[in-house]
Amino acid sequence: MSRFTLYLQQLLRSLMLLSVLSATAAQAIERRDLIIDTDPGADDVVALLLALASPEELNVLAITTVAGNVRLDKTSRNARLAREWAGREEVPVYAGAPKPLVRTPIYAENIHGQEGLPGIAVHEPVVGLASGNAVDYLIQTLTKAPPHSITLALLGPETNLALALVQAPEITQGIKEVVVMGGAHFNGGNITPVAEFNMFADPHAAQVVLASGVKLTYVPLDVTHKILTSELRIKQIEALNNQAGKLVGDILNEYVKADMVQYGLPGGPVHDASVIAYLLKPELFSGRQVNLTIDTREGVTFGQTVADWYDTLKHDKNVFWVENGDAQGFFDLLTSRLSRLK
Ligand code: BDR
Ligand code: CA
Repeated sequence: MSRFTLYLQQLLRSLMLLSVLSATAAQAIERRDLIIDTDPGADDVVALLLALASPEELNVLAITTVAGNVRLDKTSRNARLAREWAGREEVPVYAGAPKPLVRTPIYAENIHGQEGLPGIAVHEPVVGLASGNAVDYLIQTLTKAPPHSITLALLGPETNLALALVQAPEITQGIKEVVVMGGAHFNGGNITPVAEFNMFADPHAAQVVLASGVKLTYVPLDVTHKILTSELRIKQIEALNNQAGKLVGDILNEYVKADMVQYGLPGGPVHDASVIAYLLKPELFSGRQVNLTIDTREGVTFGQTVADWYDTLKHDKNVFWVENGDAQGFFDLLTSRLSRLK
């Protein structure tokens, strides 16, 4: 082989490496258009801060609120508080459904406190709600969005998206992916022996979303109960010495207490923040494609998610079910992103 051919081969290799590197860099900075639907809620607020501190990857178009952990007026105020603490008041907050589709409303004040934010004092934020309803906002935005361009993170009962889908099924055209915090399979439930809170709070809504055919990822208790706080992990956040670090430290110190006692865990889960971490760094998580159904019949299994992990039924695999996650990787990501906030 002549020296010239060798030189050409080397040049070609370098060019190929360069193009791979620049493609990887381009991928890494590709921004996702994201709507966060949420019921803050302690872990919802941590999730919102994580998302709003990550503008390179996440273009948060809006936050939509739903009744869940506490009443809608409080979840809507808490979402605006999170936005204020993140210094991101330009992101609109739309209030949505005040109650579930069919069942009577339930709340989780025993875990999240009367105001929905344990461990800290709340106030009325300076900037108000966007005018209009969250469900109308979803319909309008997803109808005119480029095909399959918008991701939705659902951090509470799925009522808002279900109402939008029932009124305008064609909005699926604008949806790239829906990532849900909800469900439980291997772990068991946290509100009944088998049901997770968001599913139990509005199982009919979850059923509508499951039937819509959109690309779905579930981040259930199976994984969130493996990503636990520890004294050290909370100290790492508090040591940031900024407002965000102090708020998250104060919230988590209070929030994790009940779960640690209830489940005998060495720390507490920060459920909803795992959804945002999944969007930022999917490599921290693993799971598999499964068939997922939800039980809406009255009785002891009301709100139970049935994940066919071993494909026994040979039904359509309609959901990516996240089953494991890198706990330290999650807390390192959270800490580094919170360090960017005031
Ligand atoms: C889910 O229920 C709510 O209490 C939390 O905010 C989270 O979304 C966990 O089961
Ligand atoms: Ca929530």
